[in-house]
Amino acid sequence: MSETPLEYPSGAGTLGGGEIHRPVLVIDFGAQYAQLIARRVRECRVYSEIVAHDLPVSAIAAREPIGIILSGGPASIYEPGAPDVDPELFELGVPVLGICYGMQAMAKALGGTVSNTGIGEFGKTPVRLAGGALLFGEMPTEQSCWMSHRDSVVAAPPGFEVTASTDTTPIAAMEDRERGFFAVQFHPEVLHTPRGTEMLGQFVLEACEAPPTWTAHQFIEEQVERIRAQVGDQKVICALSGGVDSAVAALLVHRAVGDQLTCVFVDHGLLRKDEAANVVEAFEDHFQVPLVHVDAVDRFLGRLEGVEDPEMKRRIIGEEFIRLFEDEARSLGDVHYLVQGTLYSDVIESGSRTAAKIKSHHNVGGLPEDMDFDLVEPLRLIFKDEVRKVGEELGLPDRMVWRQPFPGPGLAIRIIGEVTRERLEILREADAVLLEEIRRAGLYGELWQSFAILPAIRSVGVQGDSRTYAYPIVIRAVTSEDAMTADWARLPYDVLERISSRIINEVSGVNRVALDISSKPPSTIEWE
Ligand code: XMP
Repeated sequence: MSETPLEYPSGAGTLGGGEIHRPVLVIDFGAQYAQLIARRVRECRVYSEIVAHDLPVSAIAAREPIGIILSGGPASIYEPGAPDVDPELFELGVPVLGICYGMQAMAKALGGTVSNTGIGEFGKTPVRLAGGALLFGEMPTEQSCWMSHRDSVVAAPPGFEVTASTDTTPIAAMEDRERGFFAVQFHPEVLHTPRGTEMLGQFVLEACEAPPTWTAHQFIEEQVERIRAQVGDQKVICALSGGVDSAVAALLVHRAVGDQLTCVFVDHGLLRKDEAANVVEAFEDHFQVPLVHVDAVDRFLGRLEGVEDPEMKRRIIGEEFIRLFEDEARSLGDVHYLVQGTLYSDVIESGSRTAAKIKSHHNVGGLPEDMDFDLVEPLRLIFKDEVRKVGEELGLPDRMVWRQPFPGPGLAIRIIGEVTRERLEILREADAVLLEEIRRAGLYGELWQSFAILPAIRSVGVQGDSRTYAYPIVIRAVTSEDAMTADWARLPYDVLERISSRIINEVSGVNRVALDISSKPPSTIEWE
């Protein structure tokens, strides 16, 4: 676990104008589960935020939580330096749910006993629920849950009833309903606990009596008011990339301040087939958002001439993007605000408080630190899945809402070696065929990314009676949760066959199709 506690932003305080949601605070004990818990609570339509475990109780109280969840964590409760819960937390008069390590910390703080029984429990585990427990509502008593622990609560604190058990863990859940304290040794936030989200729902809706008001609709209303209050009558600029985050952020700002917003879409000529047209059509024609469409294809391709090194390609594309964006901003004159599609997960991971000024970002579309704008970040409070819900609610077309991630430098890092117009055309056509077949097979949504790569080699083939000497195309399709790790997707043979024969028949300059069957690590998702 990291030595330095993360600082978390206070989201609720930034919701201006409309109703302030009293959050369910998830106290993060250092595992990666806290984000998942907050997301699941939000799926129950209750607003949830994550805070560091060493936040003083007075600061927790100041956020006026409607409920508190103690997350799991990697430590062992009695080891030196293991994080504790301040017993005063239990004096706040707010319901508390402890999960895994959080259950053990709760037990320790309230006079129970935790011990290392020498028997760990990991993975999918049958669990028997006691009837009548608030946390389990009307659920059947035989359930499956996800366990991951070595230590266990061996004596519940005074006032608690044991509400679930497994073969190896007699106290797998407990509750003191009168005082509003609940705990589970297993992980209700993971999908391997099939009724887990319902259990979290029981806690937030029944125990905390939180109103289920956290919806995309409500979020939009609140953000629109907040953006209006922030921006006043100033001009705002937004760089559209074609991705869902910048699109949703732009639409929210447009709804709030209308034509005070100008979107800039820099077409670097490295997008997939029809992508630039789709963005322009959606924003200009459908939403009537003022849009500067910068056709910079010649400029980018000119600068990329003769460049083979991947990092050099990234640098050139990034620099050129910034220069063009700055030119557009300058020519609009008097622009005070810049829209950024920063998400709650970025905020948590960077550990930053409300950022006032722009930060640089490795992505193309990220802008340098010395630009003189204040930021409008309407997605700071929400997770990716919520961004999509907000996008749908705002009427963003499905193909933009559900677009697979696409790198800022675009096709340039999928063409190995030099990027030329001819090679771009080959890759764009092959990629379009591949995506069409993936969509037709109903696989697009299941894959993290699926795309074509054009290597810098040629091989011999035969077409008709003639010998060919042409490029291969490599198919890359991966599944992933977060792009940190990825597995190659087992595409059905018939889909692979259609992709292969269509690419070879329809894309001139290609005579062979290969499949990339490497996972990340040790490979990466992109080839460059
Ligand atoms: P890798 O190839 O490192 O990619 O496994 C992980 C994820 O990041 C995307 N990616 C990029 N995105 N600019 C971006 O905006 C880049 O330079 C870049 N390089 C990789 C990649 O598509 C995958 O989703």
